[in-house]
Amino acid sequence: MPKSKVFITRHFPTKLEQLQKIATIEVWEERQPPPYTVLLKKVKSIDGLLCLLTDQIDQQLIEAAGTSFKVISQMAVGYDNIDIPAAIARKIPVGHTPGVLTDATADLTWALLMAAARHVVEADRFARGGQWKTWEPNLFLGPNITGATLGIVGFGRIGQAVARRAKGFDMKVFYTSKQRSDQELEKDLGVEFTAFEHLLQEADFVTIHTPLSDETYHLFGDLRSAQQRSYRQFKLMKQSAILINTARGAIVDPEALYQALANGEIAGAAIDVTDPEPIPTDSPLLDLDNLIVTPHIGSASRQTREKMANMAIANLIAGLKGEQLPNCVNPEVYL
Ligand code: DGY
Repeated sequence: MPKSKVFITRHFPTKLEQLQKIATIEVWEERQPPPYTVLLKKVKSIDGLLCLLTDQIDQQLIEAAGTSFKVISQMAVGYDNIDIPAAIARKIPVGHTPGVLTDATADLTWALLMAAARHVVEADRFARGGQWKTWEPNLFLGPNITGATLGIVGFGRIGQAVARRAKGFDMKVFYTSKQRSDQELEKDLGVEFTAFEHLLQEADFVTIHTPLSDETYHLFGDLRSAQQRSYRQFKLMKQSAILINTARGAIVDPEALYQALANGEIAGAAIDVTDPEPIPTDSPLLDLDNLIVTPHIGSASRQTREKMANMAIANLIAGLKGEQLPNCVNPEVYL
C-alpha cells in the first residue's frame, strides 16, 4: 500500500517513528511558521496535516485541500485558528490535545499571579540595574496572596486546576462559566459559582481560562460596542486587582488593557497571550511596569510538550487510517 503524505508545520518535540511506518513526512524546519501560501499549496497534495496554533487553517485552505486529504491534527488544546464548520462541511476530522497540558498551564498561571502580585520581574530588573542600595520598608510592596479572593473566568479543566492550587493559599474562590459545575465538584474545590460582573467586583485576582470564541472575543473591554460595554469590565474590577491571562490574547482588548493599567483602574496584569501574537515591539503595553508578558509558554514543560506531540501524532495516524480520532473536536464528521 502506498504511504500517506503528511506535512508537519514545525519541528516536533518527539520521535516520529510510528508515523514514518505509514507516512512520508515533510517537516517545515524553520523557526517561523510556514507562510499561508505554502500551506495552501501543500494541502492540495497531502493526506494529513499536523499543525500548530500559529497556522491559519481557514475555509479557503480547507476547501483547497485535495481529494485525498483526510485529517487535520493540531498540537494544542485550543483550535480557534481552525475553521471547524468548514472542516465539518468537508467531513475532515480535526484532532487536538486536551488534558495533558492542564497542569502545566495552571502552574504557569500561578507563576504569573505570584510574580505580578510580588513584583518579581520588576524587582529582578531593579536588582540587576544597580538600584538595590539597602533593605527598604516600602520597597516593592504587593498584596497578600494567602487569604485573597480569586476569580476564575471559565471553569474547564484548566480553570479547575487553578482552583485546586488556590486551596493551598486559603483563598476565597469564585468562578463563572457558561454552565455551573456540579455541586460535588464545587464542594471538593471549595469554589462558588457567581455572575461574571460580581466576580469582577469581588476578586483580588482575576484569571482567564475560557476558550476564544465570538462570545469571548474582547470580553474584557470591548471597544466595538462601546455604548454597552466600553471598558466596563476593568472599571468594575478593584483598583488593587490583578488580571492574569493564559488562555487566548484576543479575550482581552489590548487598548482597553493599556488604559486600565496606565490609568490605575487595575493594579497589574500578567499575560502569557496577546492580541496580536507576538505582541508588537512598539506596543505601548510594553512601556508599563505593572504588566508582565511571557511568550505563550503555558504548556511549555518538556514532559507536557512531548505528551502533546504524541497525542497529536496518535490523532494524525488514526485519521490517516480512516479510524476515529482519539481526541476529535468535530465528531459530527462521523455521523
Ligand atoms: C493550547 O494548547 O491551546 C495552548 O495555548 C498552547 O499549548
